[in-house]
Amino acid sequence: MYCNWIRPLLFSLPPETAHRLTLQLIGLAGKITPLRSLIESRLAPNTPQKVELFGLTFPNQLGLAAGYDKDAQAVLGLSALGFGHIEIGTITPKPQAGNPKPRIFRLKEDQGVINRMGFPGRGADDCMKRLEKITHLKAILGINIGKNKDTPLEHASQDYTILIDKLYNTADYFAINISSPNTVGLRQLQHSEYLDSLLADILDAREIHRNLMNKFVPLLVKLSPDMEASDLEQSIEVILSRKIDGIIATNTTITRNNLRSSRAVEAGGLSGKPISQLSNQVIAFILSVLICFLLYTGFEYFAYLPGLRKIDEFVIRLGINEHYTSMSRGVIDIRDITYYLAVVVVLNEATRLSLLSRKWRRKT
Ligand SMILES: Cc1cc2nc3c(=O)[nH]c(=O)nc-3n(C[C@H](O)[C@H](O)[C@H](O)COP(=O)(O)O)c2cc1C
Repeated sequence: MYCNWIRPLLFSLPPETAHRLTLQLIGLAGKITPLRSLIESRLAPNTPQKVELFGLTFPNQLGLAAGYDKDAQAVLGLSALGFGHIEIGTITPKPQAGNPKPRIFRLKEDQGVINRMGFPGRGADDCMKRLEKITHLKAILGINIGKNKDTPLEHASQDYTILIDKLYNTADYFAINISSPNTVGLRQLQHSEYLDSLLADILDAREIHRNLMNKFVPLLVKLSPDMEASDLEQSIEVILSRKIDGIIATNTTITRNNLRSSRAVEAGGLSGKPISQLSNQVIAFILSVLICFLLYTGFEYFAYLPGLRKIDEFVIRLGINEHYTSMSRGVIDIRDITYYLAVVVVLNEATRLSLLSRKWRRKT
């Protein structure tokens, strides 16, 4: 039914109209309890594979990436559709309009999308009110946070900490978005000179709420696929030294390679099939850096991560999958990462044995 008539109907509408329409319908379905239960019973995965990650139990491996439900309007409906985690946002402290329309473009021939939304949204207070009304959510709720367009980079950490203050109570995890290409300057925050103090401020805010509420909310940093290798390595070093809980790889790219669609000239972030190889290469690179740290530091480095059993779980797209555009194709090309995964498997085993032997030595 979806392929025969819903998909062609949606594709005949402008992308943002189709997006708004589906979001409203899913939101509405989520509010009507019998309808929600019916959808849930029809679509719930038969044998869901639970995943323990960052101290959270994800009901299954498939999640919805940030950008689809920016203002948490359809969380219950999306959960009924079977998503194990839903990442709302990017939320900014104040409401803002985003870039002028049109700002989403389909690249049909390439099975991709270019968007230059620029974080349109109703702001933190509106989001907080809506989330506080939600009870019995089965999915894990991730909150993706970013800065307002008019906040200078030097004051960016204030925006992130305001969001943590307002939304801590309702979040299962926070995704710190410093990688969207549509907010001027935002991606500079990924570089070590900004990143270290930004993460320090965010961690301080988390510590306050963790103690106040006796609730631990993991922090994940969302990275871009467009960083130079040396910059990415430095950023990962900062992320590890600040004891961040995980990395989301990756956001959209501003690169354009081998695209056929006429819309490929549009400015913005490209997602979907055209970025899958790049994204996998970045994940592979991140894993290789993690492996180097692991070898260099003699397995001590990762001991801080609560509930972390495998270093590949540090990168969210390996432990669980988070998709947006690629949902319509549903395939992840893992050729680039299989080599690293093999190394990871060996190293995980080595870590386990090393911890076991240390425990055993302590006992004797
Ligand atoms: C229309 C659109 C809006 C998006 N908005 C956001 C956003 O607000 N924050 C964010 O971190 N990522 C945003 N993304 C990026 C996605 O979350 C995802 O990281 C990216 O699209 C790559 O995954 P995919 O190829 O499965 O789409 C957006 C993507 C699209 C297509």
